[in-house]
Amino acid sequence: MTDLDRTHCERLDAHDELAPLRDRFVVPDGVTYLVGNSLGAMLKDVPERLHRTVTEEWAQGLVGSWNAAGWFDKPLTVGDRLAPLVGAGPGQLVVGDSTSVNLFKVAGSALRLRPQRSVVIAESGSFPTDLYMLQGLVGWTGQHRLELTDSAGPSLDDLLSDDVAAVVLSHVDYRTGELLDMPSITRRVHDAGALMIWDLCHSVGALDIDLPGSEVDFAIGCTYKYLNGGPGSPAFAYVAPGLQDDAVQPLSGWHGHAAPFAFTTDYEPAEGISRFRTSTPHILSYTPLEVSLDMFEQLDMSAVRGKSQALSELFITLVEQECAGFDLSLVSPREAARRGSQVSLRHPRAYQVVRALMDHGVHGDFRAPDVMRFGFTPLYLRFVDVWDAVAALREVFAGGEWQSQPEPSVTAVT
Ligand SMILES: Cc1ncc(COP(=O)(O)O)c(C=O)c1O
Repeated sequence: MTDLDRTHCERLDAHDELAPLRDRFVVPDGVTYLVGNSLGAMLKDVPERLHRTVTEEWAQGLVGSWNAAGWFDKPLTVGDRLAPLVGAGPGQLVVGDSTSVNLFKVAGSALRLRPQRSVVIAESGSFPTDLYMLQGLVGWTGQHRLELTDSAGPSLDDLLSDDVAAVVLSHVDYRTGELLDMPSITRRVHDAGALMIWDLCHSVGALDIDLPGSEVDFAIGCTYKYLNGGPGSPAFAYVAPGLQDDAVQPLSGWHGHAAPFAFTTDYEPAEGISRFRTSTPHILSYTPLEVSLDMFEQLDMSAVRGKSQALSELFITLVEQECAGFDLSLVSPREAARRGSQVSLRHPRAYQVVRALMDHGVHGDFRAPDVMRFGFTPLYLRFVDVWDAVAALREVFAGGEWQSQPEPSVTAVT
């Protein structure tokens, strides 16, 4: 194969049917933004829509907007709009709170649905908040314990038994970008009589997902990465329709009550997905997400996934072509079908390399101890961006630019 060049990437852009979407986003000049897997870029319509929310709905509508502007039911109405992105239907998703809080709710429900069982399984390499929330939950009940799978063993099959209540896994691993086989894992978990909870933070908005088709019990995820909902935008929880009548979640706030405005003394869960609400939704945080859903409603997710795979495949090929001999290794699976929408590379001085890339306008991120992550959001990235990022990476190594960068900090956002 002859070497690929920038002209080749320009040709790919010229034939890309999703290319016009980039114009709907603010992408700062001189920036190649490969961190959409952490915080998505802003859609241009967001300031105007936020302005409307505050000046019309809040300033003019005042408290009446809880009804007139549909504020009270946002967790449900926005949930119904987000549902198709995970293959779900109306009444199956609620949007609100954070991913961590939603994990506590659905995992707590799962434990109640399997009262004779005492084990929750997760993966040792999970995004830490998932492990911390599960540690908190099992510590709180005092009757459960958390067991962890690990790439060095034990495996999921080693741990599955008739004492397992629930299994919590990330659909796409935040560090490696590995995509797990949702249908087959869910089936194995069900065969053991346990419930399956998927964390979709790194897949929703970038991949074709079919929760009902995979018979998933619960799922959670954030909306600030590939869904571009903005910093701290509300997360979501999916609960399979067949479980909703029996699932009771531990954070029993008034918005999940059957009659919130009856102001009774005792908690009585609402019917259906509404019982997974807790309390007053963060209304201003829904607006940017709704702008993003306006766009997603027009998209074919298989085309989005196709471009995402093409971008990440191009990145890996170009790194192999341009950066051989620089002590880089691929952390993500080489096979596109087993990757999410990110590529992770390992280098002993990964933090310094990421910092040096910033000087070239290339934004990637770092995950301790030695991983660089590059997210490929198909909605606003071009194939030439991939070329430019790899060209900058080559320069960072060729010129030894990373050597003058500082050491990582454990408290700063990296
Ligand atoms: C897999 C996964 N779960 C959860 C979270 C974060 O949860 P929260 O939105 O509650 O901070 C992240 C954040 O990057 C994540 O990658």
